[in-house]
Amino acid sequence: MSQRRLFVTTALPYANGAFHIGHIMEYIQADIWVRFQRMQGHEVHFVCADDAHGAPIMIAAEKAGITPQQFVANIAEGRKPYLEGFNIQFDNWHSTDAPENHELAQQIYLDLKANGLIETRVIEQFFDPEKNMFLPDRFIKGTCPKCGTEDQYGDNCENCGAVYSPTDLKNPYSALSGATPELKSSEHFFFKLSDPRCIAFLEKWTTSGAVQSEVLNKISEWIEPDEDGKPKMGDWDISRDAPYFGIEIPDAEGKYFYVWLDAPIGYLASLKNHFAKQNIDYDAFMADDTTEQYHFIGKDIITFHTLFWPAILHFSGRKVPNAVFVHGFLTINNGEKMSKSRGTGLDPLKYLNLDMNPEWLRYYLSAKLSGKNEDIDFNPDDFMQRVNSDLLGKFVNIISRSAGFISKRFDGQVSAEFGDGGNALLDRIKAAKPAIIQYYSEREYSKAMREVMALADQVNAYVDQHKPWEMAKDDSKIEALHQVCSALVNAFTHLARYLAPVLPTLTAKVEALTATSLGDWQSELAVTQIEPFKHLMQRVDAKQLDALFEPPAPKAEPKALPGGEAIADTISIDDFSKVDLRVAKIVNATLVDGADKLLQLTLDLGGETRNVFAGIRSAYQPESLIGKHTVMVANLAPRKMKFGLSEGMVLAAGPGGKELYILEPHEGAAPGMRIK
Ligand code: 2FM
Ligand code: ZN
Repeated sequence: MSQRRLFVTTALPYANGAFHIGHIMEYIQADIWVRFQRMQGHEVHFVCADDAHGAPIMIAAEKAGITPQQFVANIAEGRKPYLEGFNIQFDNWHSTDAPENHELAQQIYLDLKANGLIETRVIEQFFDPEKNMFLPDRFIKGTCPKCGTEDQYGDNCENCGAVYSPTDLKNPYSALSGATPELKSSEHFFFKLSDPRCIAFLEKWTTSGAVQSEVLNKISEWIEPDEDGKPKMGDWDISRDAPYFGIEIPDAEGKYFYVWLDAPIGYLASLKNHFAKQNIDYDAFMADDTTEQYHFIGKDIITFHTLFWPAILHFSGRKVPNAVFVHGFLTINNGEKMSKSRGTGLDPLKYLNLDMNPEWLRYYLSAKLSGKNEDIDFNPDDFMQRVNSDLLGKFVNIISRSAGFISKRFDGQVSAEFGDGGNALLDRIKAAKPAIIQYYSEREYSKAMREVMALADQVNAYVDQHKPWEMAKDDSKIEALHQVCSALVNAFTHLARYLAPVLPTLTAKVEALTATSLGDWQSELAVTQIEPFKHLMQRVDAKQLDALFEPPAPKAEPKALPGGEAIADTISIDDFSKVDLRVAKIVNATLVDGADKLLQLTLDLGGETRNVFAGIRSAYQPESLIGKHTVMVANLAPRKMKFGLSEGMVLAAGPGGKELYILEPHEGAAPGMRIK
C-alpha cells in the first residue's frame, strides 16, 4: 500500500477555560485515528491550538485585570497535564493569536476579496446602552428564531444548530447588563456565501463524501433550493468593531475579523508553525494534491466547518478538507442524577488525580464510539464492567494465564510450534486484520473493540479447553504446555497490536515483555521470547468511581470580614489608578440646615478648595474636624444636591451611625498629595 500524507486536526478549544470531558473525548477519538494511520505506515501531522480571539475572552481578561494575551497564555499553560495524562499526542499546540495566523488570515481575506467575494454593508447592530458598546453575539441572548428555544446565543442555536445574526433573535437582551439592546449602524464586511459560485461549490463538496450522511441531511437545507428556488445560505458577517481581541482587517481601521473567520485558519497556522520547527516545506505540503486534510469536530460546530470553512479555503485558492468527521456529545449517565453521593460531571483532571488509568477511559470510549454523529453515554457501572470484565478479564488475562509458564518452565523461550488448535486460533486472529483496519479507518471503534473481544473470547475458550494449569502438573504434557502457552502469548500479542492505537502505555509494556514492536501492522508478528512477567494493568475499583463523581465540596462563602462585606472582585492596577485620591485639609466644617445626616466640609487641596457634603454627622461634631487632614476622591464627578454642589468625597470606614471613622494620613502628608 502506498504511503499517504495526512493532516489531521481537532477543533481548537476556546482559551477561556480548562478542558472538559467533551474536549478529551474528541482528542482521544482523533489520537486513536492518528496512531492507527501511523501504524499503517502513513505520514500524519496532527495539530491543534488555542482559539484565542473574540469578545468573550477579551471581556474575561478585562475582568481578571490582565491583557487578553496574558489571559490566553495562562490558559495555554494549563493544557499539558490533560494531554500528557490521557496520552494525547498532538505534534504541535499553537495559538490563533500567533503571527502565522495573523498573516494567513489577512492573506486569505485578501485572496477572497480579489476573488470578488467580500462586500461591505452598513448594518444595524445591537448596542448596549448601559455598557456603551456594540454587543458581541455571545453577549446577546434571546429566543431562537427557528426552533423557539429560549436563552440562545446571538450567533447560533445550540438546540437546532441554526446559524443566524443576533438581530434575528426574538426578545433579545444584553447578557452583560440585562438591558434591552438598541440598534445602531456600523459598516461590516461580508463573505458572499450566497454567491452562486459558492453554492455550486458547496453542493459539490458536501456530496463528495466529505461529510457523514446524517451531517449532510442537516446542512443540505442551506445549499439546496427551497420552494422559491433559492437556497437558504446568506452572506456571512466576518467583521467586528473595536474594541475586539482579534486580527485586524487590512485597510479597515478599527475593524477586526470575527473570531470564527480566523479560528479554523488556526489549523493551518499551527501546521505551518510545526513545519517550521521540523524544517518541512509548508507551501509544498499544501500544494501537493495527494495531501489529505481531516478535521475532527463536535456536532455543535458543523456549519462553520462544512460550509464556511471549505468555502473560505476553496475561494482563496487553497486545498479543501477531504472530510470533516463529526461526533456527538458525551453525556454522563444519560444526564441523570446518579446516586446522592455522585454528581453528574466527569472532571478529567480529577480522573487523573485519582490515579485512574487513562487507558481505561480510552478503551471505554472506543467501546462506545462509532463513525456516526451520535451521542454516547458514560455510565459508571458500564465503565467498570467493560474495563474489568472485557479489557482485563478477557484480554489482559490471556497473558496472565500464559506468561508465567513460559518464564518459569521454559526459560522465557516461546515455541514456534503451536499445535493444530493453536495454529487455527492464530490464523483466525490474523484473518481479522482487514476488518479491523476498516473499522478503525471508518472510526467505527466500537466495532473494532467488539471484534477484538470476540477474538479474545475464542482465545479464552482455547485456554479453558486445554487447561494449561493442569498440563503443568503432568510431565508427559510438558511439550503440549509449551505449545499452548506459546500460542497464547502470540495470540495475546496480536490482539495487543489491534488495540495499540487505543492503549499506548499498555502497548509499550507488551512490547517490552515480548521483545516485539507493535507499531507496524504490515510486519509479520511472532514472539520468540518473553521477559519476566510484570502485571500489566489494575482493575477499576468502584470506590474510584464514587470518588470521581462525588460532588465537589461546596464553595466556601467568600469570607465576610469584620466590616461584614466580602472583598470585591479583583481589579487591575489600571482600574485603581483611575481613582484620584488626594490628601485634603478640612479648613471648615458646618452643619447643614435641613439635612440631619450631612456635614458641609470645605477642603483645601493645596491651592484648590472643594465643597463636599459628607454623611458623617452622626459620628462627628463639625468643630472637631476643622484643621485635620483627611483623604478625598478628587476626581469624582460633581453631584448636584438640594443644598449645593458636592465636589468629591471624603473616605470613611465603618458600618455607619456612631461607628464612622474618616481617614487621616500620617503626619507630614500635605494637602494635594496624591495617594497611590
Ligand atoms: O466551539 C469551539 O470551541 C471553537 N473554539 C471551535 C473552533 S474550531 C476551529 F475553527 F478553530
Ligand atoms: Zn434553534
